[in-house]
Amino acid sequence: MKVGLTYDLRSRYLSMGYSREETAEFDKEDTIFGIENALLSLGFETERIGNIDDLVHYLSKGNRCDIVFNFSEGMHGFAREAQVPALLDAYRIPYTFSDPMVLSLTLHKGMTKRVIQTMGFQTPEFAVINRTDEIADVKIPYPLFVKPVAEGTSKGIGKASIVNSFEELRCSCLSLLLKYKQPVLVEKFLSGREFTIGVLGTGKDARVAGVMEIIHLKNSKVNIYSYYKKENYLEYIDYKILTDDLAIKGSEMALNIYTQLGCRDGGRVDFRLDENGVINFLEINPLAGLNPIHSDLPIMWRKQGLEYEQLISAIIMSAVKRCKDKGKKQTLIDVEEPLAVENER
Ligand SMILES: Nc1ncnc2c1ncn2[C@@H]1O[C@H](COP(=O)(O)OP(=O)(O)O)[C@@H](O)[C@H]1O
Ligand SMILES: [Mg+2]
Repeated sequence: MKVGLTYDLRSRYLSMGYSREETAEFDKEDTIFGIENALLSLGFETERIGNIDDLVHYLSKGNRCDIVFNFSEGMHGFAREAQVPALLDAYRIPYTFSDPMVLSLTLHKGMTKRVIQTMGFQTPEFAVINRTDEIADVKIPYPLFVKPVAEGTSKGIGKASIVNSFEELRCSCLSLLLKYKQPVLVEKFLSGREFTIGVLGTGKDARVAGVMEIIHLKNSKVNIYSYYKKENYLEYIDYKILTDDLAIKGSEMALNIYTQLGCRDGGRVDFRLDENGVINFLEINPLAGLNPIHSDLPIMWRKQGLEYEQLISAIIMSAVKRCKDKGKKQTLIDVEEPLAVENER
């Protein structure tokens, strides 16, 4: 089976003139190499395709593969993560991970929180600031937390994210609006423990892959998992696998959120406790980082004594199973046999 790889190689964007920060979410060669190697050792044939531009050329030249292992984050717009999957859907080529609808929704943390709330899950009270004049309308009590609405890898998250007054809120919102040219999410600041939960599989086959607490070491000035700390995690962060009651409660919540949103093959859900110890949803990552060494999901996996290759195997086998179930055609829902029979009556 030939597996095409779609990804955004960071060095390529850097050589095109994009900054280190603009490309922070993109993958280094060792991530692509790691995934490729794991797939080869699992017996798949692989072909590197590249980013959306490469995919357009690849398809227009008539090239095809059996399935795509997609981990392209994309560069432009709220649908950036959805662009490669949308193109693959149009060409009826199966691929790993979630569909364009899920990827567009979850990239926008504000919209995702609205959906999560209607599903009945706890998430911090929030406001989305689109324009500077909306800052004065925020009525949530301080301290607050501000972040760009559609970034990952903690881009735009640092000390100035925690705000304690209207002046600080105004200042942080203005600088994020200017720098990231997208709305700002303002949330109640959660001061409690933080953990992330890995999920693998799809629908009724979805299962928790691990629960990992992000412990901020004593040398941390503020307890936020910032871009700087993610880059320097050996110095600032301790990761701990949890199996206690909190892990059990969080796992149920993560699995429900993941399946109800319709995520596929694998992902990660981030949570934090509020001052009363209540679990709050922060965000979901249906394209979780897969660097074999530095990304949270592989770290969590490794900490449980599991091999990286097994993680990639679980992801690709979930996608292969979905395609087999549907005779390679991607359908919009998992149609169960009894329903089909019911409809015929
Ligand atoms: N409302 C909040 N209260 C406290 N800390 C937060 C809040 N939102 C985010 N954080 C901190 O910022 C980090 C990154 O935020 P997150 O929304 O997960 O963005 P990213 O997509 O960049 O990972 C979190 O892991 C957490 O440490
Ligand atoms: Mg996160």
